[in-house]
Amino acid sequence: DKGGYKHFMAKEIAEQPTVLQGALAHYINAEGTNVTLPDPGLDFAKVERLTMVACGTAYLACMVAKYWFEQIAGLPVEVDVASEFRYREPPVTPGTVALFVSQSGETADTLAALRYMEGKAAKIVSVVNVPESSIARESDLPLPILAGTEIGVASTKAFTCQLTTLAILALKAAHERGKISSTELADKLSNLRALPGILNLALGIEERSSQIAAKLAEARDILFLGRGAMYPLAHEGALKLKEISYIHAEAYASGELKHGPIALVDQHVPVIVMAPTDALFDKTISNMQEVMARGGKVLLITDQQGAKIAGEGVWDTLIMPQIDPFLAPILYAVPAQLLAYHTAIAKGTDVDQPRNLAKSVTVE
Ligand code: M6R
Repeated sequence: DKGGYKHFMAKEIAEQPTVLQGALAHYINAEGTNVTLPDPGLDFAKVERLTMVACGTAYLACMVAKYWFEQIAGLPVEVDVASEFRYREPPVTPGTVALFVSQSGETADTLAALRYMEGKAAKIVSVVNVPESSIARESDLPLPILAGTEIGVASTKAFTCQLTTLAILALKAAHERGKISSTELADKLSNLRALPGILNLALGIEERSSQIAAKLAEARDILFLGRGAMYPLAHEGALKLKEISYIHAEAYASGELKHGPIALVDQHVPVIVMAPTDALFDKTISNMQEVMARGGKVLLITDQQGAKIAGEGVWDTLIMPQIDPFLAPILYAVPAQLLAYHTAIAKGTDVDQPRNLAKSVTVE
């Protein structure tokens, strides 16, 4: 049942504030001061290394989480796509916790990677949407993301719920490793609890997204740029767009631009810059100006403050609510989803069942 929406994808995008609220209530205690995990939980003080493995959008959630775990918890993290990891047969050091992220819990490569880690990792944790799935059943600590059934092939609410669960885990790790105090933990958790309201506000960009999408639909190639934890979000924007609109899209770390991809830039290639105001904002903006100096058409996705600093000359701007930079990757999933959705609508492609793709990839 599409609940009055034209597509499951639209419904699932709109559901995000509600399902996120459920996930937050599941993992944060009623006082909002601590993280609650099932027993036997995970003591991050004893973890030496975190190895995260997944495919597609779930892999991009791991990429974001790498920034979080490393920056706030000081925990070394390795992230790999499951199809590479399983055949690379990497050595596993003692004290390694393996974490698998999968919406379906049935992705063949992710499951094979999990089985490779059995008996090698100190603990196998999974972040899954389907609690009775193989990946959940075969882990020591299955953590549900509580997104509810996701039907659209393009993953939306599962991604934001995966990120939310991983953000909570990263905060727990930071606290247990003595990197943040109990007060700082409670502050960050309280920011997280404000997220559903902020996502609701963010859904208000729908109309603007559809206007911009009408222009994007004309393009043959589109570039996405981001820095820090927004770099995986740039990949998510490109993946979503490719999947459902069939427009060729690529993502680059903003700083990589001058190492090759800037050669692609001309007036026919829209460049989507995802840049909330954070510590790295100025650097991203200077990369954006390099694109504009070469005639590139920049769509800047930022907040009010960022738009002011960036000044004139951009092709278009999408204004997002102001947010704690730590949580920006969750919020900026919304414009990535809405731009892809409306570009696909403008092109008349099948949004929920894109060609050549299956919801669950159970063969390698
Ligand atoms: O069920 P999983 O999360 O393991 O699936 C992983 C990927 O196949 C999936 O995220 C895919 O990339 C989506 N179609 C992206 O929108």
